[in-house]
Amino acid sequence: MSKLNKEISKRKTFAIISHPDAGKTTLTEKFLLFGGAIQTAGAVKSNKIKKTATSDFMEIERQRGISVATSVMTFEYGGKLINILDTPGHKDFAEDTYRTLSAVDSVVLVIDCVKGVEAQTERLMEVCRMRNTPVMVFINKLDMEGRDPFELLDELEEKLNIKVRPLSWPINIGKRFQGVYKLYDHSLNLFKANQTKIEDDITEIKDLNDPRLVAEIGEDDAVQLQEDVELIEGVYDEFDIDKYRSGALAPVFFGSALYNFGIREVLEKFVEIAPEPESRDSDLREVSPNESKFTGFVFKIHANLDPRHRDRIAFLRVCSGQFERNTFYQHVRLGKKFKFSNPVNFMAQSKNIVEEAYAGDVIGLYDTGNFKIGDTLTEGEQLNFRGIPSFSPEIFRELINKDPMKSKQLDKGIRQLTEEGVAQLFVKELGNKKVVGTVGNLQFDVIQYRLEHEYGAACIFEPMSMHKACWITSDDKDQLNDFTRIKSNFIYLDKDQNKVFLAESAWVLKSAQETYDKIKFHFTSEFKLASASKN
Ligand code: G4P
Repeated sequence: MSKLNKEISKRKTFAIISHPDAGKTTLTEKFLLFGGAIQTAGAVKSNKIKKTATSDFMEIERQRGISVATSVMTFEYGGKLINILDTPGHKDFAEDTYRTLSAVDSVVLVIDCVKGVEAQTERLMEVCRMRNTPVMVFINKLDMEGRDPFELLDELEEKLNIKVRPLSWPINIGKRFQGVYKLYDHSLNLFKANQTKIEDDITEIKDLNDPRLVAEIGEDDAVQLQEDVELIEGVYDEFDIDKYRSGALAPVFFGSALYNFGIREVLEKFVEIAPEPESRDSDLREVSPNESKFTGFVFKIHANLDPRHRDRIAFLRVCSGQFERNTFYQHVRLGKKFKFSNPVNFMAQSKNIVEEAYAGDVIGLYDTGNFKIGDTLTEGEQLNFRGIPSFSPEIFRELINKDPMKSKQLDKGIRQLTEEGVAQLFVKELGNKKVVGTVGNLQFDVIQYRLEHEYGAACIFEPMSMHKACWITSDDKDQLNDFTRIKSNFIYLDKDQNKVFLAESAWVLKSAQETYDKIKFHFTSEFKLASASKN
């Protein structure tokens, strides 16, 4: 195997996703602890923006700082190099999460065993299902009086539209929780509960009939475990790795991230089954990770926290070949060559300058305003990666300039902030009216604050009652022209000059869909991908 292929096959790049508070941060931290990247728990700060912080801008800034530091964390386990991409838990930042999902090869979904499948879980999983991203499920907080594990498995299948197969199984629950049994190799690791360190003395039991089982966990739990295992083997098919890799089957693990139970099982299985860097679709062709030439795309941009320095960090996923420091690469959209003297990678908590990076890796590139989300870098080939969607926002407000002398600053600021993906900007085709669409109210506070502090521009946001933004396309030019003429008041352009219809209500949208049957109304900007390659 060539050096390039060897490096690439070592890599596993994934994201942990969850409804806020299910335990994403705790699990991330425990992965790093088990991987030896940190020595004690408590080192990874939560990047949660607490609900109470909406008016506390310094808090938001502080949190943004943390989320740069924890955006990518790399550690080694079982001979593999694992890149965890962090996703913000707060629902107002869901867009950021959706984009991060375009840069991973698999996800681990964390579920709270008391709450089961929650709203945000369903939305995140819809995105994973859209891309057939392989999913592993970790059912967390078994040390609390949660729901029956079989019932949770049924709920996962029902609400997330995916088949499941347990690979570990809890021994009792709540105060009586004793650990997990490994269904995949029929053995038992009994740990001592410990919040900050990994216990070294593990009792390993290879067979459920081993008399030590009763000695370790007691007669009642041993009998219950034997019955549960029999039921699982009878009800669920054998775990099938191909089905997992195609996104149709999710292996399920149980545990308590807080007390270190069940973590080793997920990691052990993760390094064995999680996919290596996968091929990615571009507008020209599919790009395989093992190609010798470098390609990559930007999926996230983070502004520098210090307003005196305008540079930003663009996060780039390497899709093929090898990236090298101080080498010229083609910025396809701008048609220009750039080289990077200080590209960084992220080992646990620290940023380091990297000389080279391989397909699967995520690196940070210092940027002075040349990158937009979705930009592609290559060694010269004119291809663009696809699949960085914008979703139909849920809240719309008109952007009004409060200081006419500062309109240039405002234009520049709002353009850069939307390039960073903080929100979406729609500009009316006729008349230049600007509408900002977001998935949460918090974004408007962030935008207003940052426009003022980073760009010196003052604005206000007028509420608008809009139902949805739909990207419109049609093969029937006449009908599309008719529609945009009649609805001209509601036709806007997005950042890429695509036409967008802002529908005032569900009823207006439905009636437009019925009247204009040759027009397609898309709810994500990924329609180009969906129509061009998926079908
Ligand atoms: P998130 O990133 O998904 O939002 O969740 P996070 O890990 O921050 O966990 C949310 C809360 O749940 C935290 O408590 C955390 O300690 C707790 N937690 C995580 N895993 C477990 C578990 O296995 N068992 C139990 N009982 N609790 C768990 P908190 O009080 O909100 O925060 P903290 O002050 O403890 O950090």
